[in-house]
Order: sequence, then structure tokens, then C-alpha cells
Amino acid sequence: MNDEALARAVEALRGATEVAVLTGAGVSAESGVPTFRGSGGLWRGRRAVDLATPEAFARDPTLVWQFYEERRRNLEPLAPNPAHRVLAAWQDRFPAYTLITQNVDGLHHAAGARGVLELHGNIWRVRCTACGLEREDRTVPFPALPPRCAACGGLERPCVVWFGENLPEDAFEAASRAAATADVLVVVGTSAVVYPAAGLVTMAAHCGATVIEVNPEPSALAGEATVLLRGPAGVVLPELDARLFGGGKGDGG
Ligand code: OAD
Repeated sequence: MNDEALARAVEALRGATEVAVLTGAGVSAESGVPTFRGSGGLWRGRRAVDLATPEAFARDPTLVWQFYEERRRNLEPLAPNPAHRVLAAWQDRFPAYTLITQNVDGLHHAAGARGVLELHGNIWRVRCTACGLEREDRTVPFPALPPRCAACGGLERPCVVWFGENLPEDAFEAASRAAATADVLVVVGTSAVVYPAAGLVTMAAHCGATVIEVNPEPSALAGEATVLLRGPAGVVLPELDARLFGGGKGDGG
């Protein structure tokens, strides 16, 4: 990791009152969660974009649930890594702090983060397509697919944002406000090609924030980042945290 870039990131964060963080699949990579654009794999010969849609669910809810159930089974044993823990610890370090994620894996919450803005939903929540009742459910596997609403018997769906659907309004509004007022936006492990989430970076940059990117590879936002920290999040963030607040903080939870 470039020491000069690290020093610039430390300086920007030291002077910051409002800090926002936007994470993508890369923050969970060291926990064992595959990234989207890295793997490029098919599931039973189908692409994720052909399964994660309202049309696919209307056509074959069991098939769509089998896809999500496999993801839930793979995620179940995974634990937060040092990057998640640092980002959770920062909520008690900065006067104003907003953690925004595109991930549905729930690992920020598992690391102790509170009030995470989940722009793409959460795979551990389900919502009734008939009455709208939403609940957390960590059952893997479900006794029968698709699961049914205990209140009305309607079909339940995973509480994740599918292709062609809008982001949850409250979460996106809160994220937009945080991006617009942040002194520093830290962007961790996202290819920054999926909108409107990626647009938060442009908004923050236009509103005067210092944008710090943590990613081992170049991403679509290279031009917008003020400081590039090239390396895995599980290494870079603990190092940044140690420089800011002294060794070992956020690494014990
Ligand atoms: P991507 O798979 O597009 O990008 C993952 C990024 O993480 C890449 O830029 C990698 O270089 C980086 N990366 C890999 N390992 C890393 C590590 N150890 N530390 C830091 N970065 C690392 O995932 P997202 O940008 O999150 O949407 O994808 C955005 C959205 O596309 C997802 O939320 C999902 C998908 O369609 C929905 O589900 C709606």
C-alpha cells in the first residue's frame, strides 16, 4: 500500500466531522463471499440477471427461491472480517457517521454496526408479496419452497432489490443526504458500475467531499477518488484505523 496515500487518507479523516462509507461486495470478499463481477459464474446454467427479477419470480418462484436458498446456505457459516469490524467501530469514533452498503449479506450488522443503510436489501429478510408483511428469517433450508406468509398465506419473497426495481426509498434518501453533507466518503470494495448506488460517489465529490477508495483493483470511479488505497479492505482498513486511533481498535469484536 502506498504510504503517501495512506497519510493523505489519515489527514482527511482526522479533519472530518461527517464521514460516510459506501461498501460493495469486496468488503465481504475476505469473509468468503464471492464478488459479482469477479466470478461471472452461472447458476444451473442461468445468469443472476435472469433470476433476480420480478418476472422470474412470477414465472417460477420455487426456482428463484432455490437460487436464494443456495446463497443463504453459503453465507450462513461466514463471519465478518477485520474490515467489517473497523467500519462498525468507526460509528463511535466520528461525530457523524453513516454506513451505506450495497451488500445483502448482513455482515456489517453481524460486526456490530448499527443503522446500516442497506440499499439493496437483506437476504435474511423476507416479505409477503400479498400483504407486504416483512420479517427476519434465518431458516436454512426452508421446510418448503416458496415460504408462505403466516398472516395471510401469500407467497414470500427475499427482501432484496431485483433488477428493474427501485431502491428502498428511505434508505436511499438517507444515503443521498449523507453523501451530500459528508466531509469524507470512503468507498470500499465496489466496482461502482451499478446505479443509483454508484451515483452517491459523484454526488459526494460534487458536494466537496474527499473521496477515499479502498480496492485492490481499479474501479469505475478512479477519476472521482481523491485518494486511492490499493489493497484488500481487510488489510487497508485496520491499517488506517491503527494510524487514526492507535493499534488494534475495531479488530477485537
Ligand atoms: P462487484 O463484484 O461489481 O465489485 C466488487 C469489487 O470489490 C471489485 O471492484 C473488486 O476489485 C473489489 N474487491 C475484491 N476483493 C476485495 C477486497 N478484498 N477488498 C476490497 N475490494 C475488493 O460488486 P459490487 O460493486 O458490490 O446488486 O456490485 C454492485 C451490485 O451489483 C451488487 O450490490 C448487486 C450486483 O448486481 C444487487 O444485488 C441489486
